[in-house]
Amino acid sequence: MEEKVIEEIRQGEALELIASSNSRRKMYIESYGCQMNFSDSEIVASILIKEGFSTTQNINEADLVFVNTCSIREKAEQTIRKRLEFYNSIKKKENQKMIVGVLGCMAERLKSKFLEEEKLVDIVIGPDAYRDLPNLIKEVDGGKKAVNVILSKEETYADISPVRLGGNGVTAFVSITRGCDNMCTFCVVPYTRGRERSRDPKSIVNECKQLIIDGYKEVTLLGQNVDSYLWYGGGPKKDFKKTDEKTKKNSINFAKLLEKVAINCPNLRIRFSTSNPQDMTLDVIQTMSKYSNICKYIHLPVQSGSSRILKLMRRGYNREEYIKLIDNIKNIMPECAISMDMISGFCTESEEDHQATLSLMDYVKYEYGYMFKYSERPNTPAARMKDDIPENIKQRRLSEIIEKQMSHSLIKNQEKIGKTYEVLIEGTSKKSDNHFYGRTTHNSTVVFPKKDHKKGDLVMVKINECTAATLKGKSI
Ligand code: SAH
Ligand code: F3S
Repeated sequence: MEEKVIEEIRQGEALELIASSNSRRKMYIESYGCQMNFSDSEIVASILIKEGFSTTQNINEADLVFVNTCSIREKAEQTIRKRLEFYNSIKKKENQKMIVGVLGCMAERLKSKFLEEEKLVDIVIGPDAYRDLPNLIKEVDGGKKAVNVILSKEETYADISPVRLGGNGVTAFVSITRGCDNMCTFCVVPYTRGRERSRDPKSIVNECKQLIIDGYKEVTLLGQNVDSYLWYGGGPKKDFKKTDEKTKKNSINFAKLLEKVAINCPNLRIRFSTSNPQDMTLDVIQTMSKYSNICKYIHLPVQSGSSRILKLMRRGYNREEYIKLIDNIKNIMPECAISMDMISGFCTESEEDHQATLSLMDYVKYEYGYMFKYSERPNTPAARMKDDIPENIKQRRLSEIIEKQMSHSLIKNQEKIGKTYEVLIEGTSKKSDNHFYGRTTHNSTVVFPKKDHKKGDLVMVKINECTAATLKGKSI
């Protein structure tokens, strides 16, 4: 009953938004990079809709264009720079009143350089300053350029309910931590997203409950390093050690948070990303195995199979410790799927180090991988080391890593032929109108004939065919 009332009120609000949208200024938001960026764009939209703006998917009718940017590798920045140049040319030629804003990590990294040297944009705003956007827009309306790249030790946007932009209506992201304190030597994130802070668990659980009311069936809890989630009533994590025993006892770590969400949202599938091997504890694995609504899938970036390289990367674990963690996962949840991130050609990487990476992959047999060539980022600790692996060797090693992963993905998928899995339907297959696609608990994509199912249904599908990337089957 209560759910129905809320739903009607929300639909009413949505209608009003559409009805008066012609008179509002329209914003167009484009996001690059990690899931956190896509989630942040939903917070930006929420902040501006409250100020009377509306969203549009059509660049031609946009009064404001925001590009939420990624700095993780040089190639990402180059792609985004081209987009900014493109918007700048539209602005010059067709729509001089259009405001162009750069959001997120590139804004934080390059700061006012965008305004002073490149003159590409009107607004530069970092990931912790989005509440200030309405003020910055006013400044630009007044004929100025505007910038706010102040990082915060507290901001989690906990009270802002994101506007779900362009999603499938079935799966959603909820952020649980911001920033990262890990300082891996190759990584720009600690500099662009600031210190790590955890969000109030009450606001996390409430947002998940609201997703259920809104018809969502799956949530992914997001953080750069979810395992280091720690809530003890607010305040920086580094002060936790100094607090009294009672506060420590009542604190909530990631395992407890997962359990809270699993218990409070029994009809919601739960995923999380990203886990960091140095912080993932046994109680997280045990909590996953205890609750059937927590998906049996862990994205566990490793970056290298060589302990020497891991040390240079300052990852906080060595090969043996990583293998121990993998063994623990497989012992507690034999069916659990594991994926990774891997970097080829980090500073001083030898052929022997590279072979250690390949042999680790053979040991784990990941379901899936995100694989990259090392890209030096200015001002990171690794930028003080020599980026000494020639491009052609980085590329050859990367190709070998990708080739191995493709063969493992295929083997993993072939093992599923003849078995039946529960699949959450996310939408119509991109290749065929007569087929749905969805994902299993293991995060494998499954395509199957539609029959009389609908988006958002959980159906049992028997697998009869596969490629390295996709499973095909029939619902039973
Ligand atoms: N903890 C974060 C990591 C973000 S970066 C998360 O939520 O996933 C994602 C991946 O990009 C890293 O795991 C790493 O494999 C890769 N990466 C980061 N910095 C890189 C660099 N300088 N060069 C190449 N790859 C990089
Ligand atoms: Fe980057 Fe390492 Fe944090 S990869 S986001 S510094 S865990």
